[in-house]
Amino acid sequence: MRPQPINPKSNPPVQAQDSGSLVLGIETSCDETAAAVVRRHADGRVEVLSSVVSSQVEAHAPYGGVVPEIAARAHVESIDAIIAEAMIEAGADFSELDAVAATAGPGLVGGVMVGLSAGKAIALARGLPLIAVNHLEGHALSARLGAPIAYPFLLLLVSGGHCQLLEVAGVGRCRRLGSTIDDAAGEAFDKIAKTLGLPYPGGPALEKLAVGGDPARYPLPRALLGREGADFSFSGLKTAAARIAERLTTPEERRDLAAGVQAAIARQLAERTERAMAAYADAHPTGGLRFVVAGGVAANGEVRRVLNGLAQAHGYAFFAPPLAYCTDNAAMIALAGAERLAEGLVSGLDALARPRWPLDEAAAASSPTHVPGRKGAKA
Ligand code: KG4
Ligand code: ZN
Repeated sequence: MRPQPINPKSNPPVQAQDSGSLVLGIETSCDETAAAVVRRHADGRVEVLSSVVSSQVEAHAPYGGVVPEIAARAHVESIDAIIAEAMIEAGADFSELDAVAATAGPGLVGGVMVGLSAGKAIALARGLPLIAVNHLEGHALSARLGAPIAYPFLLLLVSGGHCQLLEVAGVGRCRRLGSTIDDAAGEAFDKIAKTLGLPYPGGPALEKLAVGGDPARYPLPRALLGREGADFSFSGLKTAAARIAERLTTPEERRDLAAGVQAAIARQLAERTERAMAAYADAHPTGGLRFVVAGGVAANGEVRRVLNGLAQAHGYAFFAPPLAYCTDNAAMIALAGAERLAEGLVSGLDALARPRWPLDEAAAASSPTHVPGRKGAKA
């Protein structure tokens, strides 16, 4: 029999016949050191027993963006304590785990190596399977931490390094329908926020500034409007917004520009998603249409509102992760690990850290120009 959890009050033990799998997840691909323990039941239900995220925002703030060397060192300094905290908070002992899942890319390779090495060490010491998880697959599945969403679904993945539309048919089964040809949506938020004098990360700061603003005050470009396909482009918006920002003087003007930029990003996401929705619906004539938005930008209220409306209008059920699981976290990595474990998709201890690791490798190979890159060309 397995030992009882050390903190049974906050996490009552689950009945043995339905214990599913208990997975520790580790995430260190950018500027968050995170660990989480997730239980995935045999029927697919998911319980997040703990999710600890330690942000390095303050360490990077003076530089206006993430500095890879600072990130890697900060991960080394905190990873052990974060893992220990996640285990204690979950009331779990290492001997109860069924697997360890760690992000193996894409991302800043120094950071990825820290988390992946920690995962390998635990797997080796405890004789557990290791699952090397693609960070993007974590985001892709993150909405399943809040609701049992069936496969397949149409996914808009919008984060600091990525902006893609994908058909997700299961773990390891993604088909890319479109992606950005320049900046990622989160990157656009961050860069424009910087020109408005806002701190990094710019997305949440810009959303706050935009409250009550007039989004129609400044004319902003609508990139790729009417263009075939489901690709994105944000560089024109970034340039236009920077030019306007230079001549702003009052707080009201800055607020209105922030509202305009936020609306323009949400509008482009919706316009391009609408095209993907039409193509996806044609490919799935029997119905059961599901749309998921995930990644850091999915935390934006305006983006959620506009996409929810679009989904309703086109007969799609709308899903977004709980806010805590939009930005980087380890619960989504643990979940991806648990789903892979259920399918027998485990990795060897020789799994490599991969700075680039597209979800749809075939599509990425055929259009290598689609490589967003605040943190290097991750996809
Ligand atoms: O998923 P994430 O934590 O990291 C990556 O994998 O990139 O996403 C971070 C990105 C940043 O660009 C940040 O500005 C953006 O998500 N973001 C937001 C909001 N919260 C985070 N953008 C707009 N509105 C928000 N509320
Ligand atoms: Zn991410």
